Amino acid sequence: MRRCTGRRSTTPREPQFRPRPTCSVKQKPVMDVPLAKASRIAALLTASAFVVLAISRPSVAADGNAAGQALYQARCAGCHSVDTDRIGPRHRNVVGRAVASVPGYSYSPALKELGGVWTPARLDQWLAGTQKMAPGSRMYLEMDDPNQRRLIVAYLESVSKKR
Ligand code: HEC
Repeated sequence: MRRCTGRRSTTPREPQFRPRPTCSVKQKPVMDVPLAKASRIAALLTASAFVVLAISRPSVAADGNAAGQALYQARCAGCHSVDTDRIGPRHRNVVGRAVASVPGYSYSPALKELGGVWTPARLDQWLAGTQKMAPGSRMYLEMDDPNQRRLIVAYLESVSKKR
């Protein structure tokens, strides 16, 4: 807060002297934006927040196989990913893909000898026992629960081309 000071005379021989304020304090409006406009802005912000929420909602429902995806994360993602070769080859389009055919991935002779194409039925057989299906393969897995196998195979289908 500024204090206004009047100019003071030092010579007492100036009788007409009147102290004049050298500053004027103007009251600034507290809120520049009128209330109506402010609430319109608030409404707009709320509305756009809802739009963002609607767009970014997880698309779990879209493939209807959240359980399969979760199982894949828990049982396969340690070695595999959908789009990158890791310890195991990538899984994009695996349904309908020739066995042991990802370019640049180094398969075991056992898997290369298996031949044929991955179908849902063959993937189910693979997950039930990799060493029974291709003895000497570098993937060791036996999933006894047919329901879990079905969910994972459905997930693999969902990351493959629809045919
Ligand atoms: C411990 C590591 C590991 C885990 C866990 C694993 N895999 Fe594998 N997987 C491999 C390896 C290594 C290969 C290559 C095998 C070979 O060359 O003999 C492979 C190969 C495959 C193939 C053959 C792909 C092709 O291109 O022919 C499929 C299909 C597959 N895995 C599916 C799965 C699924 C589904 C799961 C989860 C239920 C899983 N794997 C879990 C390591 C793993």
